[in-house]
Amino acid sequence: METRRNFIKLTALGSAAVITSSCLTSEKEQKEENNTFKEVIKPIVVSTWIHGLEANAASWDILSAGGSSLDAVEAGVKVTESDPNNSSVGLGGLPDRDGKVTLDACIMDHENNCGAVACLQDIENPISVARKVMEDTPHVMLVGDGAKQFALEKGFKEINLLTEKSKEAWEKWRLESKYQPVINSENHDTIGLLALDENGNLSGACTTSGMAYKLHGRVGDSPIIGAGLFIDNEVGAACATGMGEAVIRIAGSAIVVELMRNGMSPYEACKEAVNRVIKKHKDLTNLQVGFLALNKYGEAGGYSVYEGFNYALQSENQKGMIDAEFYKKW
Ligand code: GLY
Repeated sequence: METRRNFIKLTALGSAAVITSSCLTSEKEQKEENNTFKEVIKPIVVSTWIHGLEANAASWDILSAGGSSLDAVEAGVKVTESDPNNSSVGLGGLPDRDGKVTLDACIMDHENNCGAVACLQDIENPISVARKVMEDTPHVMLVGDGAKQFALEKGFKEINLLTEKSKEAWEKWRLESKYQPVINSENHDTIGLLALDENGNLSGACTTSGMAYKLHGRVGDSPIIGAGLFIDNEVGAACATGMGEAVIRIAGSAIVVELMRNGMSPYEACKEAVNRVIKKHKDLTNLQVGFLALNKYGEAGGYSVYEGFNYALQSENQKGMIDAEFYKKW
């Protein structure tokens, strides 16, 4: 048993942020790696951007009571999906160029079970529909009208996701009628959330309304297993945020997990994945991509192309935001 009574400064290999720490007592588990024993930090939850703080809190309620990482990741991102003031996820998300809010989401558990929905309209919590796809069908992904029909059959309510605020923004955008989809609006887009539970099981969830003013039918990385999210319980978990097309091109989250399998830390793996994005794109203008990873020891790290990506972390002793390191300033 070990008691910590001081403030903990979290570092993401160089990038630092002060995290509030409570006076808690924790039991440490050790895992063997290369003949040395490493402390396992669990439970723990991490998620992209500032909206991750509230999402993590909902996940933490479940994790700290001994609940599963799968329940925790769903409950966490549902908070963000249901927040009408968040313009990049779920209700209140900015619409496509036709004024339609279309949502993408996926979920994955420690046994590689996964479910996803893409281009789903009129349903507030796509992550819960994705979980139903995973648990109640032999499929991994449903899209468009089929996904909506499935959701309604499962008892999800039909609602208008286009809030007055998002509608006004879209109408203003339409005045210029210039096709220029926007990523990373208000310094965030997707929420990707990764959790390690008391039993040492990893799960993840990823959900977004995607690029604002995109072509109707455009699907980004967020609902694609291996791009927006990937879990391997033997290794770790990863999720992505930013320009989905660039993430898909390098199978981003799967790559981050494979790099961790080959011995990299979460931070190193995210940095290498970002380097691959950079190598594959001659023009980095507005090409923000960020990766966030959590390994089986409960170690987290992130890295992005441009400055500004941050992530929220909550564990028994730590709670707060961490600024990720980055390749370049805007
Ligand atoms: N990363 C979110 C998207 O590209 O849709």
